[in-house]
Amino acid sequence: MNYKSYIIFLIPMLIWACSSGSDKQTESKEIRYTEQYRPQYHFSPDSAWMNDPNGMVYYDGEYHLFYQYYPDSTVWGPMHWGHAVSTDLVHWQHLPIALYPDSLGYIFSGSAVVDWKNTSGLGTQENPPLIAIYTYHNALIAEAGGVDVESQAIAYSIDKGRSWIKYEGNPVIPNDGNRDFRDPNVFWNEDIQKWNLVLSAHDHVQIYSSDNLKEWKYESDFGVDAGGHGGVWECPDLFPLKVDDTDEAKWVLIVNINPGGPNGGSATQYFTGEFDGRKFNADTKETKWLDWGHDNYAGVTWADVPKEDGRRIFMGWMSNWDYAQVVPTKKWRSAMTLPRVLSLVKKKDEFMVRSTPVEEINKIINTETVISNQVKSISDEAVLNTNGINLNQSHLVFDFELGDSIPHEFGIILENNLNEQIKFSYVDSTKQFQFDRTQSGNLSFSEKFAHISTAPYQTGSTLNLEIFIDAASMEIFVDNGDLVMTEIFFCTQPFSKLKIFSNGQAISMTHSQLAEIKSIW
Ligand code: FRU
Repeated sequence: MNYKSYIIFLIPMLIWACSSGSDKQTESKEIRYTEQYRPQYHFSPDSAWMNDPNGMVYYDGEYHLFYQYYPDSTVWGPMHWGHAVSTDLVHWQHLPIALYPDSLGYIFSGSAVVDWKNTSGLGTQENPPLIAIYTYHNALIAEAGGVDVESQAIAYSIDKGRSWIKYEGNPVIPNDGNRDFRDPNVFWNEDIQKWNLVLSAHDHVQIYSSDNLKEWKYESDFGVDAGGHGGVWECPDLFPLKVDDTDEAKWVLIVNINPGGPNGGSATQYFTGEFDGRKFNADTKETKWLDWGHDNYAGVTWADVPKEDGRRIFMGWMSNWDYAQVVPTKKWRSAMTLPRVLSLVKKKDEFMVRSTPVEEINKIINTETVISNQVKSISDEAVLNTNGINLNQSHLVFDFELGDSIPHEFGIILENNLNEQIKFSYVDSTKQFQFDRTQSGNLSFSEKFAHISTAPYQTGSTLNLEIFIDAASMEIFVDNGDLVMTEIFFCTQPFSKLKIFSNGQAISMTHSQLAEIKSIW
């Protein structure tokens, strides 16, 4: 977020100060989860404003998801950490707010870990504490024009995250002279048997180390001369990933950036490289994008997923600071992306991070509604039989054979009775995917919304698309996650038609599958 216009921060802060600050979870689920645009199988807050996922940690059978939350309004305000848990990454249980703002500031983004060896001394060996590491953002200092607005702090829980105690020695990393100094992400580094922390400091990240999570040593900077610099760097994450089909491991550094995304506004870049516990050396200084759509921001990964599982699981905020605060939802704002597994592949000497939806999502795909293999060769346009399934809550898979020559443009169109539509296509002349939401109904809330996003892609002889649609969002995984686009849209009526089109010449569709997805609420 751009924190330059601090005046707007004071208004919500006053509202917050005058209110109880209590968790407003009063209405029944039936009402809350049938609202227009309400996601049915993505996480969204019970009510009010949500942005970044925070403190994602697995402990004792539960995936914890905390999130930037302002319970008293549907726009951004004094930040709390909202809280939910899941045993399967699909069904979520809302829990009371975990962290409230206090005299040191709002509770900005951060991470959480299990302190297995009780290095902090805040729990015991038998009952290791969960430690949350977050940023204090002091709106009063910001308003007064001060620099030391942000610092890092910790809180701990010894009851499976149900209650949190802020550490009395906070902040554990005081402000260093950077006004933007936030979003600490901590992990236990097996190689050096210490904790490491990466945080964002305006146009670069900083790396720290610690023995006990309370005292931190600055180690190095990364990024002033690498990656995109169209905006401020936020929400970093650093972790090792094994390269698929090899024994080689690389470190991946995720850095969110806002604005400066490839299609405008907020986006997530990453670097691959080496890390020795002190310094990160990137393979290349070029930016790579984790997702080419408009709507996947501030994403980071779960800590402490058991070794037997071994997955690196990512989740992002399915919105964009360009318009997040004005999207046309009424009781709540924003949802998270599906949880995704990140993996690393080597293609022509380059390392590339792939994202695929977690397999647990398959259990809510309604197998009774599956319709397969309808049309083989499509010229111009084919309307698929959807058998009345709810396209706004669906899973679509398509396989195409491309051969030597590719149609000028081909892809899919989802349309409603008012001819509002979403078009996702591959354009051969520019070798790009395009996501077009310029005819998607309600566009008036922001000038920045009606925009076609593009993503460069070199197709092979076949093409696989896996698509998840949920009320007002679409996540597209191309060729098993080689390229991902996440987009939101606000058609005024549900989709009624699904078309495949091909301009210039026929396209051969070797497989198709449509199915409805069950609601998790
Ligand atoms: C990213 C961000 C973080 C910050 C939080 C505040 O979306 O701006 O940098 O900690 O949101 O809500």
